[in-house]
Amino acid sequence: MTTIDTAAFLRDLHALRQIGAFRTGVHRPTYSPQDMESRRWLVDRLTACGLEASIDGIGNVYGRHKGPGPHVLAGSHIETQNEAGWLDGALGVVAAVALARAGLPVDVCAFADEEGHFEGGFLGSRSIIGELPEAEIDRSRDRAGRTTLRDALRAAGLEGKPRMRLEAGRHKGFLEMHIEQGTQLEQAGLRIGVVTGIVAIWQWRLAVTGQQDHAGGTTMAERKDAGLTAVRLLAAIDAEFPRICGECSTWTTGRIVLEPGAPSIIPGSATMLFQFRDVSAEVLARMEAALRALVLEANRRERCTVTLEPISKAIPALCDPAMMRALSGAAEQLAPGAWQAMPSGAGHDAQNIARVMPAAMLFVPSIGGISHHWAEDTKDEDLALGVQVLGEAARRYLAD
Ligand code: GLV
Ligand code: MN
Ligand code: MN
Repeated sequence: MTTIDTAAFLRDLHALRQIGAFRTGVHRPTYSPQDMESRRWLVDRLTACGLEASIDGIGNVYGRHKGPGPHVLAGSHIETQNEAGWLDGALGVVAAVALARAGLPVDVCAFADEEGHFEGGFLGSRSIIGELPEAEIDRSRDRAGRTTLRDALRAAGLEGKPRMRLEAGRHKGFLEMHIEQGTQLEQAGLRIGVVTGIVAIWQWRLAVTGQQDHAGGTTMAERKDAGLTAVRLLAAIDAEFPRICGECSTWTTGRIVLEPGAPSIIPGSATMLFQFRDVSAEVLARMEAALRALVLEANRRERCTVTLEPISKAIPALCDPAMMRALSGAAEQLAPGAWQAMPSGAGHDAQNIARVMPAAMLFVPSIGGISHHWAEDTKDEDLALGVQVLGEAARRYLAD
């Protein structure tokens, strides 16, 4: 069995938590000064573990093992959602560092912008597999539409640096440890989840155009209220999706902006960022068809015009059976009877890396299921157990 230094692992996690600390969580949006500080911190940790460390032109931090293979690639992301948790992403990166410190032949990667601060999201894991064209970088803006990706890269000091590609044939597989971000493990009293598959997230911009006007002088019969059209459409989606979706599908409207946004002005426009998720490409296609039909119907019934624009469509991924066997064997050895196989309702870099090599994921419980919130947390003993299972799984898989 490989011995993992869990004390050093927890020390690293808590040190990273200080960079961009926000209440008990972290605020480290992609390419912010805090995010770049955390990337430089990681380069130092990787170098201290004997890896050859660098940051590439999209912000990926890579630590290359100097010895002979076969190698495993391990990691996750290091930026966070706004005012979010200290473990989402950071856990998988610091766990990968712990495996490298234990002497396992592991390359470590922190992929840039898994959290999608910029349109498209998953910039780092798509770039490293060759699926992020320069033209998309030219086009992409942050999700508020204020900053271009090129400007953000320039401000972060990354402009002009080459982008790294994974070396074909170097890795036997990819391992990502992550918090569950749900309550299944906690409710079942379990400590480890072996992930079977990862959902795809399909994101959309819904834009409603009405007529800005006086809230008192304009009669109800005359007005074109973009806000009301928006809420009626969202309610229609919420009524229709349960009829056509899968068992674990989810949908969310994370942003609604009414313009000009004043109490005495009828909103002239409404913009919504909408997403849905599932592990099945067939279900995703059904949800898209239903969404398009509801937009058509709104355009027939409403006085305002609705447009639907896709922002990104990720690809769902199944985890590799041999890697899952290694994870399950390690979990049964170190946490007998206290683990289960389960799908991931969150998106992860592993779903992109799975396109070029076998990939698998390990979950540890989230206290109260909370994530994408500064209160996100996991017990230290669950974090420590998880990294030991990950290390043992990597050893087993490499020896397989
Ligand atoms: C990733 O952070 C997700 O939203 O699933
Ligand atoms: Mn994450
Ligand atoms: Mn996240």
